[in-house]
Amino acid sequence: MTPWIKRWPEDATERARYAESIFHRVAPRYDVLTRALSFGQDGRWKSRLAQEALRAGEHTRVLDLATGTAALPMLLRRLGHRGPIVGLDRSRDMLVRARIKCSGMNGVTFLRGDLGRLPFASDSFDTVTMGYGLRYPPDLPSFLDRVLRILRPRGQFLSLDFGLPESASYRSLGMGYLFLAGSFWGLALHGRPGTYHHIVESLRAYPGQRVLAAVMNAAGFADISVEEHLGGMAATIRGRKS
Ligand SMILES: C[S@@+](CC[C@H](N)C(=O)[O-])C[C@H]1O[C@@H](n2cnc3c(N)ncnc32)[C@H](O)[C@@H]1O
Repeated sequence: MTPWIKRWPEDATERARYAESIFHRVAPRYDVLTRALSFGQDGRWKSRLAQEALRAGEHTRVLDLATGTAALPMLLRRLGHRGPIVGLDRSRDMLVRARIKCSGMNGVTFLRGDLGRLPFASDSFDTVTMGYGLRYPPDLPSFLDRVLRILRPRGQFLSLDFGLPESASYRSLGMGYLFLAGSFWGLALHGRPGTYHHIVESLRAYPGQRVLAAVMNAAGFADISVEEHLGGMAATIRGRKS
C-alpha cells in the first residue's frame, strides 16, 4: 500500500470521527470538489436519482442519509417534490451549509445523527436516498437492514456513490485518477494535497457495486438494479422493500 494512503478505519466510532474531521475541513469547498472530480457529471447523476425518487409521488416522505450540503433535497424541491424531506448527517459543518441552502424551503428539515443509529420508526419513509454515503457505515449488512426497516412497504432505496470497475486495469487507472485529481484539488482548494486522499482510502475498503447488490439481496431488498457511470467508477444502486 502507498505509505501516504492511510488505512480506512474499521472501527465504527473511529471511522465516524475521522469522517467528521475530514468534512470539517472540506465543507466550505465540498460543492466545488464534487463537480470537479466527476468531470461535471455529478449534477446529472444526482438529478436522475432525484427524478426517480419523485416518480414515487410529489407528496412522499423522503429521508436523505449522509445529506452533506443538501444537494439531493435541493434537487428534489427544484423538480417539484412537495412532501417532507429529512436530511441526516453527522457533520455540523456540512449541516450548517445544508440549512443555509434550504432556508426558504418548507418541509425540509435536517438532523444531526449517525448512520449507525438511525432514529426513525419502522415504515416511516417512502424513499431513502444517499449520495456518496455508502463507504461510511462500517457494517453494511446491518446498515442496509436498518434502511429496509424504516422504509414503508414498496418504498425505495436509491444510492449514488463511487464504484469499483470490474476490470482490474481500469480500476487501477480510476484509483490513480482519483488520487492525482484529489491531490491537485486538495492543494488548489485547501493548500494540502492529502485533503481528499480519504476517497481512495475508503474505496480500497469498499466492496463495490456488485457485492453491494448481493448484500442488498441478502438483506431482503427486491427489484435491485445497478447502473454504472464512467465505466463503473461511480454507480447508482436501487432496491425496494417488498
Ligand atoms: C461525500 S459526502 C456526501 C454529501 C451528499 N450526500 C452529496 O451527495 O453530495 C459524505 C457525507 O457523509 C457524512 N457522514 C460520514 N460518516 C457519517 C456517519 N457515520 N453518520 C452520518 N453522516 C456521516 C459526512 O459528514 C458527509 O457529509
